[in-house]
Amino acid sequence: MSDAKDTAIVEGRALVQDYSMPGSLFTGSKQVRALKGIDFRVAQGKTLAIVGESGSGKSTLARIIALIDAPSEGELLIDGQPIDITRRRPGPEMRSKVQMVFQNPYGSLNPRQKIGDVLTEPLVINTRVPAAERRERAEAMLQKVGLQPEHSNRYPHMFSGGQRQRIAIARALMLNPRILVLDEPVSALDLSVQAQVLNLLADLQDEFELTYIFVSHDLSVVRYIADDVMVLSKGEAVEQGSREALFADPQHPYTKALFAATPVTDLDAIRARVQRRKEAREGQTV
Ligand SMILES: Nc1ncnc2c1ncn2[C@@H]1O[C@H](COP(=O)(O)OP(=O)(O)OP(=O)(O)O)[C@@H](O)[C@H]1O
Ligand SMILES: [Mg+2]
Repeated sequence: MSDAKDTAIVEGRALVQDYSMPGSLFTGSKQVRALKGIDFRVAQGKTLAIVGESGSGKSTLARIIALIDAPSEGELLIDGQPIDITRRRPGPEMRSKVQMVFQNPYGSLNPRQKIGDVLTEPLVINTRVPAAERRERAEAMLQKVGLQPEHSNRYPHMFSGGQRQRIAIARALMLNPRILVLDEPVSALDLSVQAQVLNLLADLQDEFELTYIFVSHDLSVVRYIADDVMVLSKGEAVEQGSREALFADPQHPYTKALFAATPVTDLDAIRARVQRRKEAREGQTV
């Protein structure tokens, strides 16, 4: 075994995010502290799930990790390298290491762009890969996510929600990132489609040795996908630990309440099958 377990590919130290909210005429703008000092580490190839109620700061943290927003305070390290938060955009080399997939595959795909162009755009912007090779890579990636090379000539509206999310995942993988930040990537999909997309994500994680930061409010999704879990409440990480420990014995009152409020869905049965397959592959027995 290597020491990969001990080496964090993503690390957050005391991350704080303040948003300024427009105030009244007399009070001026006021600050809202959406993250109140978050620490975490994720090992390569693992999945950290971020759970919590609406407004707890999940997307705020996801956007910082995906290098979309800079934190107000604290430090983010990717591959042990601190990200310079004073620069407006990190360099292309760092950018290409982390990519984000959003909840709504309708909003994140330009309706006037053919799928082939959706996929090659990150290569056009960030690399000098020639056009013919860009196209080849896009077609190969469509196959990796369970679509067809011919789909590159079609427009987003010609696809189902699940297919669109596959396209968004394919696009996110075009720069060969090491880390995917997924913000509620299956929440908008039907249950059976959710299971398929989660399966796909598990397969891609194996194939490309991806590290996932996976935001979800759905504990049955978390139970399926996560290695480690962070529970956010009002901008604070009230509980962090392995999936097994958290599900076996939640500690924090907020976590207990979250678990009590979450019904076990039909999806659990589907996922249990998938999970057994995944574990058989990994040779684990959790
Ligand atoms: N751009 C912004 N400007 C001002 N306040 C914001 C902004 N984005 C988020 N907030 C506030 O920060 C807090 C955390 O929001 P965030 O979107 O991170 O929550 P979330 O956990 O992702 O919620 P949800 O489950 O609804 O997606 C909320 O109080 C929200 O109103
Ligand atoms: Mg959110």
